[in-house]
Amino acid sequence: MRIAIGSDHGGFALKSIIAKYLREMGNEVIDMGAQSFVPSDDYPRFSKAVAEAIIKGEAERGILVCGSGVGASIAANKFPGIRAAVCHDTFSAHQGVEDDDMNLLCMGQRVVGEELAKEIVYSFVQARFSGAERHVRRLGEVKAIEREFLKEKNKGRQEA
Ligand code: RB5
Repeated sequence: MRIAIGSDHGGFALKSIIAKYLREMGNEVIDMGAQSFVPSDDYPRFSKAVAEAIIKGEAERGILVCGSGVGASIAANKFPGIRAAVCHDTFSAHQGVEDDDMNLLCMGQRVVGEELAKEIVYSFVQARFSGAERHVRRLGEVKAIEREFLKEKNKGRQEA
């Protein structure tokens, strides 16, 4: 699988570990940065880079790491087509894909240890959307909300 990854300073060390682990698993990793530890960098631009890689089809899924996973997921979920969630357990990491078609996993380096993080990543990567009718229906409802928001946003632009 082709996976885009990113982190700010708060997740930089864990991102490096995850990148290596993903490659060992046979995945293609697109590293959207940070490329070095910069204590003053901010998470939104890495969320943007990973989200855009998914939206453009350059990556099938993404993984973001910040201190808590929270900021990275909040920023990523602003992008249409992105379904990001913070998962610090293996159940959520695979069930989020199977039921909710989650395409971006977010984790906090200050929350999980290296070995648990690898197991979470493994669960996320192995999982596939079930395609069950009830999940397709719910996903459709989520997408309808997204379209409604975009319509409002575009309407505002036209009026401006
Ligand atoms: C950065 O110190 C930290 O706030 C950030 O990595 C993240 O945890 C935000 O949610």
